[in-house]
Amino acid sequence: MRDIRNEINRINEVVSFPTVVAEILDAMTDEKITTSKITRLIESDPALTTKMLRVANSPFYGLRGNVKSIQSAITMLGLDETGRLLLTYHMKARLISLNQQQNARLEALWKHSVTTATVSRMVASRYKFLTDGKEYTAGLLHDMGKLVLIQYFPETNPVIEQMIRERSLCDVDAEVQVASISHTSIGSQLGEKWRLPSEFVEVMRCHHDVRTSEQNPLLTAVVRFADLLCEQWGYGVGEQPQGFTLAEDKAIRMLGEFDAFFRDRPLEQVIQDLTADFEKNLELIQLLS
Ligand SMILES: [Fe+2]
Ligand SMILES: [Fe+2]
Repeated sequence: MRDIRNEINRINEVVSFPTVVAEILDAMTDEKITTSKITRLIESDPALTTKMLRVANSPFYGLRGNVKSIQSAITMLGLDETGRLLLTYHMKARLISLNQQQNARLEALWKHSVTTATVSRMVASRYKFLTDGKEYTAGLLHDMGKLVLIQYFPETNPVIEQMIRERSLCDVDAEVQVASISHTSIGSQLGEKWRLPSEFVEVMRCHHDVRTSEQNPLLTAVVRFADLLCEQWGYGVGEQPQGFTLAEDKAIRMLGEFDAFFRDRPLEQVIQDLTADFEKNLELIQLLS
């Protein structure tokens, strides 16, 4: 087997972050960006225009089918939300077209990413965690290190999956044994290479060991909790060893440190609340994935 650790640097040269996605991420933080510029960007792509209108008219936003143009979609959804939808659309187009032979794995990774993003938003919104809308993007990006393993080291994936199944290892341990490097290490290198905001890079690096998160531990814990819920609800990618229970995860305790209401609410009740939210979000997840 090739020495993956040594090859990662070379790969960082190869896996470029799509320019348009970088522009969207910049636009989301640029106060001077205008609605007309975003409108032009979207309208230059007919498939994107159709998709945006379908999403904007989905019951999730409660706009009751009244969104007839991109301009009104942006006005009604706001620039931040529009930016998040654009990012989702472009990430998906990029991911799914990468490697035909790895299509099933890429699709599973995409579904997991978009579901983790949506569930992160649900968690933040229900318990009023102050993650400032970043939880969606952080959830979308958190496992991008897996993309490198799927795309460039496809021979490692069946072995890693078998280890997770048969030895009840978590994915990080199986990856280190098989590939000498975890998707969290690869992810943080990629995130730096892509010049992503450092909070997103931290989530990519620390979501399996939330206590190591220093810059924005709340963001990391929200994404990790959502990540594990996705595993439980059948939208996972093998990140939870068999027999593992949610109550054991450090992210839950950490979230309790940020919010007394969350800490005092029994975990079964929290899961019940979020399951109800998840059902309301399913249609949106299907539209995005
Ligand atoms: Fe992960
Ligand atoms: Fe994950």
